[in-house]
Amino acid sequence: MERTLIIVKPDGVQRGLIGRVLSRFEEKGLRIAGLKLMRVSNELAETHYGEHREKPFFGDLVSFITSSPVVVGVVEGPNAVSITRGLVGATNPADAAAGTIRGDFGLTIGMNIIHASDAVESGKREVSLFFNDNEIVDYSRDIERWIVE
Ligand code: RTP
Ligand code: MG
Repeated sequence: MERTLIIVKPDGVQRGLIGRVLSRFEEKGLRIAGLKLMRVSNELAETHYGEHREKPFFGDLVSFITSSPVVVGVVEGPNAVSITRGLVGATNPADAAAGTIRGDFGLTIGMNIIHASDAVESGKREVSLFFNDNEIVDYSRDIERWIVE
């Protein structure tokens, strides 16, 4: 069982895509273990995107993610990290396959609708950056036995 962090970015929220994006994860069978609407502070954005600090697009990235509310979620399931990245698609929506979130809803790299953790370790780090322990809910769905063998 893995956990990963997803963020419906400001463009996804502004465009009214929260429900459609979250549906992709629900339909796949992954379980939502945490969910909230929030505004990302500058400090949180800089920590979250710390690995990109030296990149030329870092300033734009921080401005963008703090520009308007986002929806953050914890998604869990077997291989949740790589399965979620697959559902999200390539970083640049222009290269993302049809059927992926970015492939279906986006056009340009700066507005690619969604973030998803890129590895198990970053998933753990990012989940704890955005969620307190008491905001993550341990539960099982009645349909679970028809989703995971
Ligand atoms: P994310 O972190 O948002 O899930 O996206 P990712 O792993 O697919 O891509 P990453 O390399 O981590 O980049 C983070 C975000 O920075 C923006 N970006 N802009 N202008 C550029 O060349 C460029 N490269 C990346 C994208 O919005 C990307 O999601
Ligand atoms: Mg990334």
